[in-house]
Amino acid sequence: RLQAMIGPSILNSDLSRLYEESQKLLDNGADYLHLDVMDGHFVPNLTLGHPVVKCLRNKIKDVFFETHMMVSNPEQWIAPMADAGVNQYTFHIEPVDNIPELCRKIKEYGMKVGLAIKPGTPVSEVEKYISMSDMVLIMTVEPGFGGQKFMENQMVKVQYLREHYPLLNIEVDGGVGPSTISCCANAGANMIVSGTAVIGAADQAATIKLLRNTVQE
Ligand code: DX5
Ligand code: ZN
Repeated sequence: RLQAMIGPSILNSDLSRLYEESQKLLDNGADYLHLDVMDGHFVPNLTLGHPVVKCLRNKIKDVFFETHMMVSNPEQWIAPMADAGVNQYTFHIEPVDNIPELCRKIKEYGMKVGLAIKPGTPVSEVEKYISMSDMVLIMTVEPGFGGQKFMENQMVKVQYLREHYPLLNIEVDGGVGPSTISCCANAGANMIVSGTAVIGAADQAATIKLLRNTVQE
């Protein structure tokens, strides 16, 4: 059976206290960390890169790090991110010419492969590469910013994938929180990214637990 896993996005936390914020999320029950990397080209925003990820890794040893690469040239950051101790390299397929080649290279560097698509990208675009990957990320907002509204119309993609690939790890990201988690769970997502809903929660532990329990039901 697929495991329900909650991976908070630290994007909207106090980034001057990245380690403390991350450790707090883990103490409150987070299963992994979803680190949003933006390059100002693929999306109109900047966040953090491999030097910051590496410093965080030095302080947090045994936790699964996923980097969500919202960058125009994901090939460029495979080696540095592997060196920084990243476990899963999730990249957007939209700007990539040779997707199989990229998947091969990520694995060669010892990381798992995640394939991400934006809301406007049909699920058929990613389907052909599923066998080369460890996870598919269905974006439920336009990538670039935290705190946006969940796009329920993306759930047909999750449903389709779950129906055809019962063992596939399917992640949702964007606007996911207590009020939208049922949608995601019913559609069949098992890896849940949640940013502002978890970071801003009065009771982080209860919120993370609620998200996980809703998926596990
Ligand atoms: C959006 C990022 C998401 C996002 C999650 O570009 O990939 O990870 O920040 O934050 P919320 O849950 O606030 O939408
Ligand atoms: Zn993300």
